[in-house]
Amino acid sequence: MAIFNSLGSNYKLQYVLKSLFSDTNGQNQNLRNFLERKYNGKAILTYKGREALTLALKILDLPKESCVAINGFTCFAVYKAVEKAGLIPICLDLEKNNPDLNFTPSVLEKTLTENKNIKVIIVQNTFGYPCDIDKIKQICREKNLLLIEDLAHCAGTKYPNGKEAGTIGDFITLSFSQDKIIDSVSGGALVIRNKKYGHKLLPKFKRIKRGQRLKDYLYPFHTLKIRLSYDIFWGKVYHFILKKLNLLSKPMQENLYAFYPLPDWYCNLALSEFKKLNQQLNHRRKIAAIYAKKLNKQVLNSKIIENIPASANVRFPIFVKNRGNLIKFLKQQRIFVSDIWYDSVAPECPNAILVSKTILNLPTHLNVSEKDALQIAERINTWLKLP
Ligand SMILES: Cc1ncc(COP(=O)(O)O)c(C=O)c1O
Repeated sequence: MAIFNSLGSNYKLQYVLKSLFSDTNGQNQNLRNFLERKYNGKAILTYKGREALTLALKILDLPKESCVAINGFTCFAVYKAVEKAGLIPICLDLEKNNPDLNFTPSVLEKTLTENKNIKVIIVQNTFGYPCDIDKIKQICREKNLLLIEDLAHCAGTKYPNGKEAGTIGDFITLSFSQDKIIDSVSGGALVIRNKKYGHKLLPKFKRIKRGQRLKDYLYPFHTLKIRLSYDIFWGKVYHFILKKLNLLSKPMQENLYAFYPLPDWYCNLALSEFKKLNQQLNHRRKIAAIYAKKLNKQVLNSKIIENIPASANVRFPIFVKNRGNLIKFLKQQRIFVSDIWYDSVAPECPNAILVSKTILNLPTHLNVSEKDALQIAERINTWLKLP
């Protein structure tokens, strides 16, 4: 069967049946209760992870010129979420050699001496690979800065100190968007862990449009159908028609930076994903370990490999010069991995730009079997040997 990096990657038949037929009444409250217990704070559910980030920053009520330090190698949604809160994003570059895709404490310290307006630090544990949280937290404490842990990639990640991601920051934010670790087609959450901010008034929330909700409701069903019938050509036609008619939900939509509450349907799916989190993490770890063992060392990054046991491994990044050519080669073998995630990076981060030009993310999700991972590694090794 064809292998996809995204396109309903986390859904199997059981998920689709749940998405179509479950009774979801009261699940918004249940998910809030669950998150409050797990992350020890006050939980607010949003329609997107980016809204949760903006909300956290708005609650802080910082002076207008305040800056927020973010990873230079990040999703545009993060950058935009800071701007939407009326603040200035400052992108921190990666290390020059063999970067682990997170900014280091030394880059943070250097930036803080140059910019005294930075008041908040956001860490994101890119693709699940943990950052040096102890040193970053210490810097925040010494300089009286607030720390946000963005768990969009890293629900379940363990830091080098053994603590789970989401148990350190003043705020944590989560994304439940398509292809994330916790995938409920869309959704997000803010957990306010710092008691000082737990009683702040929240802005007015709008209702998400019914058309968008219907698209989301059918997304798991459509994508399962596409994937199952891709090899008999019908899947390709069906995918094309749905895209043309704009009937497939897209993860990156420009108009979704306002505040929307999260309906019960999404909460029900997110809750059941949390229940299966350990099973999912084990699977992703196993698949990442296969890539690390089988792939030619020239495409691997040793820091990422060291961190596989601790990481949520939402993707497995490799680094190749002629990336477009490899994507084409794999496509001919029905392996669709055109997932480069961050292709536009802040110009002030030259190392992150270099990474963004060579990175290719391999899938680790539940629909990639160990046999598939071996096959993908084998094909990439074959491509590397081509003249
Ligand atoms: C690190 C990170 N944080 C936050 C987000 C935003 O999540 P959402 O799409 O739910 O707004 C993304 C998007 O992919 C992301 O990569």
